[in-house]
Amino acid sequence: MSNPEPIILAIESSCDDTSVAVMRGFEVLSNCVHNQAIHSQFGGVVPELASRAHIQAIVPTISASLEIAELQISQIDAVAVTQGPGLLGSLLVGHSFAKSLSIALGIPIINVHHMEGHMLSSFLIEKNIQKVDSRLEFPYLCLTVSGGHTQIVIVHNWNEFEILGQTLDDAVGEAFDKSAKLLSLSYPGGPVVDEKSQNGNPKRFPFNTAKVAGFDFSYSGVKTSILQTMQREQKKRPDTLINDLPDWCASIQLSLISPLIKNIKKAILETGIKRISIAGGVSANSLLREQIRVLGESMGLKTYIPPMSYTTDNAAMIGAVGQFSFQNQKFDSISSSAKARMVTTNWKLPNVKQHK
Ligand code: KG4
Ligand code: ZN
Repeated sequence: MSNPEPIILAIESSCDDTSVAVMRGFEVLSNCVHNQAIHSQFGGVVPELASRAHIQAIVPTISASLEIAELQISQIDAVAVTQGPGLLGSLLVGHSFAKSLSIALGIPIINVHHMEGHMLSSFLIEKNIQKVDSRLEFPYLCLTVSGGHTQIVIVHNWNEFEILGQTLDDAVGEAFDKSAKLLSLSYPGGPVVDEKSQNGNPKRFPFNTAKVAGFDFSYSGVKTSILQTMQREQKKRPDTLINDLPDWCASIQLSLISPLIKNIKKAILETGIKRISIAGGVSANSLLREQIRVLGESMGLKTYIPPMSYTTDNAAMIGAVGQFSFQNQKFDSISSSAKARMVTTNWKLPNVKQHK
């Protein structure tokens, strides 16, 4: 008889969401996310408040996750946890808790790089849903777009990544959030801009976008252009930001998403890799999802567009990496610690030529 698939409890606490998942193999038995509403009134995440909220939320979130999975804590085979990158105080809550569980239950701990979790989300299998195999064969291209990252990565294997291109300044999620702030919209701004743009004209306000070589991105120029265009238009129509809100949102969205589509298309053509996925908070964006779907159809690609629950930060994605580690018996030391920044030895520098 083959070995039963390992049960992993996964914890993610790198920013302002406390999340706990229970996985049997790659099947997600539960994936609970506790959102910290407190930050919206400050227009951004306040690190000290985030750490305190994690401390309050971690035990109830673990209990809820086990209850939904209908399992006891004693049935867990390993604990996987985000080691970094992220806010140190937030990471420490999840990581210290994972170490305590590892010691108390006598089970291994698996440290996970947050972005590797996002990139391996396509391996997750939803509970009680017909097991359609959405996993992409290696290698595939992953467009990783969040509040802190904007990258095109070749995922060679579960533990081997190569960055083809990345942002030279702001991340695309950050550009969404800052633009939303200029429009006096709530934080996080990305989902609000997305929602308000539904009936807007994306061509109404053309902004200057940066021309960047290779597969890299730059968002600081377009941010300045958005601000200057707003100031100019407000002189003509003082209430434009309120009266023309859908057009502002649609125009901002188009200018932030277009460089992503342009570069991923270029990466497909240059590498010859015909499997792509999108990951990270901005992969929830409706325009990005639609344009990736259209690109996939027109270029004959296998695409993975994550369900909404796996776009923003969640522990199931940390559990996916945990399962690969478990299968390969790669465990970590109890003396390891959380890291705000992570130097990764399995991330290669760009070298596009070898894939031609
Ligand atoms: O991956 P994530 O949850 O956290 C980080 O690791 O950063 O990403 C959060 C980012 C925020 O900047 C948020 O505004 C953006 O994802 N975001 C969106 C949408 N939903 C979330 N941006 C554009 N459109 C959306 N629908
Ligand atoms: Zn993230």
